Amino acid sequence: MADADLSKKSAGYAAAEHVENGMTLGIGTGSTARYFIDALREKIAGGWRLRGVPTSEETRALAEAAGVEIIIPDETTDIDLAVDGADEADPALNLIKGGGGALLREKIVARAARKFIVIADKSKRVVRLGAFPLPVEIEPFGWALTVRAIRDALRQSGIENADIALRAHDGAPFRSDGGHMIVDCACGAVGDPPALEARLARIPGVIESGLFCGMTDLAIFGDGETTSVVSP
Ligand code: A5P
Repeated sequence: MADADLSKKSAGYAAAEHVENGMTLGIGTGSTARYFIDALREKIAGGWRLRGVPTSEETRALAEAAGVEIIIPDETTDIDLAVDGADEADPALNLIKGGGGALLREKIVARAARKFIVIADKSKRVVRLGAFPLPVEIEPFGWALTVRAIRDALRQSGIENADIALRAHDGAPFRSDGGHMIVDCACGAVGDPPALEARLARIPGVIESGLFCGMTDLAIFGDGETTSVVSP
């Protein structure tokens, strides 16, 4: 197994140690979350009963196959623990997420959960957010107008001339599970992530940004077979 994969696996399995029999989980999306689901499968095979709110259709299929009882958020407002990956995490555990395009559902679930644990390989740990292009999920109607407003918000945050690209898939604009488009904003560095998150949230047409500020209760970073646990 490649070192990055082993690190992701270590983080995913370590997060599963925070799961208790009978819990309702928010289950994240991506290659690290997949290892968390593998660990859940083993617990269920051992007789545990777990319910889960998946953050994407991809995760729904994986979790269902692992034996998790799938519930939709309309059926519960009660999520004990959400576990998800990240594209970047800063020392305050502010995150950039959405590389996999599931950021809206991920944010709804993480916000609702009593506890939110981030799992990642150590390469996701950064001093400052922004090397990874920030995904912003937008309404297709008037998308070019929304992109202009996003550019203004970035400028107000001191980010000049960001490269903003409409995410594509198979030669067409990418669509999220919710049917929205995503623009990836290459910021370089984000000086004040909470301020930028708030600015983006005020733009009509922005459904949600991939900045997750002040939401993380715990981060587990994998480094080969070991992990380090970080609190904000
Ligand atoms: C999905 O939309 C993302 O937020 C993922 O959680 C993030 O991209 C991390 O993915 P990996 O675990 O595959 O790196």
